[in-house]
Amino acid sequence: MIETDSISLIEYAKGMQSRAYAPYSNFKVGAALQTSCGSIIGGCNIESVSYGLTICAERVAIFNAISSGYKTFTHLVLMTDSGAYPCGACRQIIFEFCPLATIIIITPQGIEYTTGQELLPYAFNKSDLEKQTGEILKKQSLENVL
Ligand code: THU
Repeated sequence: MIETDSISLIEYAKGMQSRAYAPYSNFKVGAALQTSCGSIIGGCNIESVSYGLTICAERVAIFNAISSGYKTFTHLVLMTDSGAYPCGACRQIIFEFCPLATIIIITPQGIEYTTGQELLPYAFNKSDLEKQTGEILKKQSLENVL
């Protein structure tokens, strides 16, 4: 990605941060996701008075993009005031939906780059489900023989 593109993606994430609805934590997060075709989709955290219903900025951006029909992503910028990294739930979603993307974390010290795989080693993934399905099918065919 050329530098001007990353600057506009970072600016977009900053704009999303200003839309955060975070009256309980006052911790505002913005996310900007770049699709493979060059579109930018944003997200911000949205809190609920029933705290557990709160959703993080990264998941809003990714679900927004998926529900808009985008499938592959090249970059995800995360903007906070403190330079926080994604929470565990978001790491799972980033791992699943942004396998090829560079994750760009804006910190007070500068810009850091990582990936979904680096953020969530040993992630639970599709092949874990397929292994189980394979085991069940094997067991069923054995039962049919016996
Ligand atoms: N938050 C995010 O938006 N992304 C994260 O990865 C971590 C946490 C939000 C959720 C909540 O609104 C606030 O930050 C404090 O936890």
